[in-house]
Amino acid sequence: MPDSSSHKPGTRIAPRPSIVVLPPEIASRIAAGEVIERPASVVKELVENSLDAGARRVSVLLEDGGRDLVEVSDDGEGMTAEEALLAVERHATSKISSAEDLFRITTYGFRGEALPSIASVSEFELITRPRHSEEGTRVLIRSGVTVKYEPAGAPPGTTVRVSRLFESVPARRKFLKSTQTELARSLDFVQRLALARPDVSFLVRHGEQESFSHPGGDIITALVSVFGRQVARELIPAEAESVLSLRAFLAPPTRTRPNRSQQYLFVNGRPISSRLLSHAVDEAYAGLLPHGRFPIVVVLLDVPPNLVDVNVHPRKAEVKFVREREAHSLVFHTLREALVGKGLVPRVAPSPAGPALVPQGPGFSFEPAPQAVGGGWLQRDPAPPPDAHRLYAPPEQNRETPGPEPVTSLQPESSHVADQRLDPSRLRILGQVAGTYIVVETPQGLAIIDQHVAHERVLYERFRSRSSANPVQMLAVPVTLELSRREAGIVMERLKEFADLGFVLEQFGPEAVLLRGVPAGLKLSDVEQTVRDMLSEVVELTLDRKMLAPREAVVTSAACKAAVKAGDRLSEPEMRSLIEQLLRCDNPYVCPHGRPIMVRLDRESLEKIFQR
Ligand SMILES: Nc1ncnc2c1ncn2[C@@H]1O[C@H](COP(=O)(O)OP(=O)(O)OP(=O)(O)O)[C@@H](O)[C@H]1O
Ligand SMILES: [Mg+2]
Repeated sequence: MPDSSSHKPGTRIAPRPSIVVLPPEIASRIAAGEVIERPASVVKELVENSLDAGARRVSVLLEDGGRDLVEVSDDGEGMTAEEALLAVERHATSKISSAEDLFRITTYGFRGEALPSIASVSEFELITRPRHSEEGTRVLIRSGVTVKYEPAGAPPGTTVRVSRLFESVPARRKFLKSTQTELARSLDFVQRLALARPDVSFLVRHGEQESFSHPGGDIITALVSVFGRQVARELIPAEAESVLSLRAFLAPPTRTRPNRSQQYLFVNGRPISSRLLSHAVDEAYAGLLPHGRFPIVVVLLDVPPNLVDVNVHPRKAEVKFVREREAHSLVFHTLREALVGKGLVPRVAPSPAGPALVPQGPGFSFEPAPQAVGGGWLQRDPAPPPDAHRLYAPPEQNRETPGPEPVTSLQPESSHVADQRLDPSRLRILGQVAGTYIVVETPQGLAIIDQHVAHERVLYERFRSRSSANPVQMLAVPVTLELSRREAGIVMERLKEFADLGFVLEQFGPEAVLLRGVPAGLKLSDVEQTVRDMLSEVVELTLDRKMLAPREAVVTSAACKAAVKAGDRLSEPEMRSLIEQLLRCDNPYVCPHGRPIMVRLDRESLEKIFQR
């Protein structure tokens, strides 16, 4: 990856230009109108200023969730006495000086708005000293009026203390949430900035308590600081390069959250929210997650500054890409590839406490796709906890290692390890257990396949591929399905989508449909019930706005309802055909709802279990 640091905020090497008040014609072109909404807005602006000032260490002190005090100190370049006074003027900035500069912004700030906005709604104190100067400066402002401007002793760098936020604006103070909620929002901003600038050290204290710290280091260290060691270890790294360059860390589909709060998107080191990129992430995980669940992802995209406009949002929280399609496609393809490319194979590895035949909680996980490059980062993890080896099965080349399972088994498979997909011609079907699980002998040991989710995956991929029309099997006698009014409204709108999948439904009066055909090759014991279940699930999902993209929801539901059920007896040819179809799928390992399809128990694990 080329060194893209030159256009990252806060990484400027040249000396800082002095602060100037922007002329009105430039000021008016800035998407501004800074509104300080809550303590976290103050934290974000001040920490960004510290990073823009080249700080190596930033520390934040909060009291009462930031309501009583937000103090941010840095060891950055500081300001002279004149600059300190100018800095609190509106539109005074050292970061741009011409309208053209707006198209090559390489700093977090550029509007010259944050400090005056904060100072107008708080008791504001700025203490600053440039490294080369003997003396520092103190500026004290109350509700926007400068009450003190004097020399002061200070270490090099800048400290801004913001107390009694919104005391003069009770309406805004009223909207603040609980101390813990406000604190969490501030922490979220700092953590995002730590991921963007992992080289800087961060410390956040809330009263006497340390709430977050990051010692400074590389992105891996920052992932550990933000997510903790266990989650960080599971993240799957991926990267790609075009005109844009992308680095991402993805949680396996088993590590989900009920909302997007743990999705971290960055463009040129700026934390942003972006519908475009979020959509690309959703698409990459499509079919791998339970409904209404979201993965943890860190997506760091670097774009030449002239291909992205950061001057589009008053809080600088969104950007506009010049080449939207390219950004979307790079993120989608890279993530998708890393997630499903060669399969995330759940494996059973014996636990140190004794053999575990079935995966339990974190006792089984996903092996990252071999082509997800940069996988060696796990090795740099300084001290994995004792149960670390249960998270990943050992790579092939370590299988012969004698003695206790080495910690090196944490290492994801390297790219030269061949795709470990099973070859259907080399499988021997041993039978069905509990009418639900198909047990197969493989050249490496055993595989256990959940027949329902396996079939669900097969149907899901078949329904999802728009390329091949889904063949239909017409019913000798059409079935009438009565619907409630609520259901009818939703179902009638989607008849075409159902037809695409092979379910031929026809409107039959205002509150009924005729089922004329179903996808060919399905063994449906109760056609009517299957279709009814599918329709009501789609209705529910439509009403509950947490669903995936509508077509996706229809496809997932149809696949689930039409698949063989747990408890259905299958003949050997049926099992074989199911496994063959499964192994032809893009991702034969995880069902569209995110459940594992197949668990492998390799010979090496068997030998460990039996202590051979
Ligand atoms: N911690 C700091 N260290 C050194 N200089 C600072 C610091 N904070 C602010 N400044 C100076 O004060 C100026 C004004 O800061 P302010 O945050 O108001 O505006 P900005 O960062 O230029 O733009 P924005 O409103 O987008 O944040 C900055 O341009 C910078 O020169
Ligand atoms: Mg700023």
